[in-house]
Amino acid sequence: MTRAIVIGGSRGIGKAISDSLVEIGFDVIATSKKDLDTSDLESVKNFVNNHKDVDVLVLNTGGPPAKEFFSISEEEWQKYHNQLFLGFCIILKNISINEGGYIFLISSSVIKEPNPSLIISSAYRLAFSSVLKILSKNYAEKNISCINIAPGPINTQRTKELIDNVEEYAKSLPMKRLGEPKEIGDFVSSIIKNNIKYLSGVVINFDGSNSSHIF
Ligand SMILES: NC(=O)c1ccc[n+]([C@@H]2O[C@H](COP(=O)([O-])OP(=O)(O)OC[C@H]3O[C@@H](n4cnc5c(N)ncnc54)[C@H](OP(=O)(O)O)[C@@H]3O)[C@@H](O)[C@H]2O)c1
Repeated sequence: MTRAIVIGGSRGIGKAISDSLVEIGFDVIATSKKDLDTSDLESVKNFVNNHKDVDVLVLNTGGPPAKEFFSISEEEWQKYHNQLFLGFCIILKNISINEGGYIFLISSSVIKEPNPSLIISSAYRLAFSSVLKILSKNYAEKNISCINIAPGPINTQRTKELIDNVEEYAKSLPMKRLGEPKEIGDFVSSIIKNNIKYLSGVVINFDGSNSSHIF
């Protein structure tokens, strides 16, 4: 296992995963929105035409804006349907994961606790989580593990865009801090490095004990 693709790997959580994979000797293709825009199906098709197979695939992309249901336009629903759902389906259909490989999805804690102002994110991330859960059984036949990481508040640009006073907000969290992207990066690389395979078809709540649900 030597090759990885990290979508949305130019900043934040994706970049931290890419850095951690490089540290354990992987050859990583880490894309920015310029290289692969998951909301643009032509960009997605162009990317899959040039990348036929890989050992480790990280499905990550930019998050949608915070908007209440009645202010969301039809065009916005279509754009984020592509960005968070259909783009990933096309990628999985066309890029083959090599035997013994891994697929990681970066979703969100909203898949378990939908948030009214993050309704686009809540809807499409849950939809794609269902797809990955179903496919994890097919991938298991090739010893490919599928892990859905659902981050809580992580210290990236995205959090700064969504929250006015990040410092104050951080104090309200159980650990009195945001999660660091490197923690997610190192989680991913340690799963791979230690060849942990039986952890598959699962959602990992990566939220510093912020959620209140048990499962
Ligand atoms: N941070 C959190 O607290 C948190 C919590 C829950 C869920 N999430 C979700 O986890 C994902 C990663 O979060 P993050 O905090 O790392 O975000 P981030 O810092 O905003 O980074 C987003 C990454 O995705 C790329 N990207 C943006 N739009 C894209 C598009 N249309 N197609 C493909 N790539 C695109 C960006 O590339 P460029 O550099 O080219 O812009 C960048 O590499 C997001 O979906 C976010 O909503 C984050």
